[in-house]
Amino acid sequence: MREILQLLQDGEFHSGESIGALLGVSRAAVWKRLQHLEASLGLEIHRVRGRGYSLASPLSLLNSSVISDACNTCGWSVRVLESVDSTNAEALRLLAAGAEAPLLLLAERQISGRGRRGRSWISPFGENLYFSLGLRLEGDAFPLDGLSLSVGLAVLRTLQEMGCAAAGLKWPNDILVGAQKLAGVLLELAGDPAGVCQVVIGIGINVNMLHRASSLIDQPWTSLREQLGYVVDRTALTLVLARWLEHYLELHGRDGFCALRTEWEAAHLWQGRDVSLHAGPQCILGTVLGVDEGGALRLDVAGQERQFSGGELSLRLRDDS
Ligand code: BTN
Repeated sequence: MREILQLLQDGEFHSGESIGALLGVSRAAVWKRLQHLEASLGLEIHRVRGRGYSLASPLSLLNSSVISDACNTCGWSVRVLESVDSTNAEALRLLAAGAEAPLLLLAERQISGRGRRGRSWISPFGENLYFSLGLRLEGDAFPLDGLSLSVGLAVLRTLQEMGCAAAGLKWPNDILVGAQKLAGVLLELAGDPAGVCQVVIGIGINVNMLHRASSLIDQPWTSLREQLGYVVDRTALTLVLARWLEHYLELHGRDGFCALRTEWEAAHLWQGRDVSLHAGPQCILGTVLGVDEGGALRLDVAGQERQFSGGELSLRLRDDS
């Protein structure tokens, strides 16, 4: 499967003969295998008489040896999976089973990708980045408050380095271009936060997905490909993200989120904006003042400053129709 995909990932036409020669099978067997790929991975393959086969949209597959070589030097072990329910769920399972940490888990696709507030995260094959870093921490030695906001900064710097200058942050850890979501962060924790615990930092970046390909997402979104105008190399993006994440984890581990607070607020797209904060049926109206030293949102509510934190909260602009 990998061999055919590696050949077809450029989105160009390849003849049945050349694919057959690569795999050592007949032309009829090639067609069967391609049909299997379409059905099992949800890929769209064009078949044109006289030209051969091409993917409807080019792919950028992950190069696991390049990623392992780069990440092993900073002490991370790496696993790249073809398909998984959720890289976060798998990282939690592996850590619980005693796997070595830090552990970077990547997948070409997720069947049940998880988003914040119980939402699902659409994860088509080979298109976006599904990245989970599993850590084993001593809760009293590594500050957990504000960690997801520090991770948001790492993702933002990555996207900016890739050329997406318009990206910014939305509390607590969405990365947006205008009102469209480009990336998200989901932190999951197991064990005792005050003692030994396992933390999985899950990052999803919309890389090469196009609107015509996905109508399943229930909020405005964009992708790097849409922003930059070309197919982005997912391996190169992974290496840039790993480097920024290592940098911000070091800063956060040493001084906590308070050292990054001013930088975070400077990148916050909704500083000073009138917002509504939703927690289930409850809705609070206020104006964004910023964040506190633990990453909680500071709102001016009817002239009084109040702080809010928690994974179930959702922030919206008030002038959004
Ligand atoms: C959000 O809702 O904004 C957070 C999305 C996080 C998605 C990533 S993709 C890799 C990792 N595995 C998951 O199941 N979720 C996170």
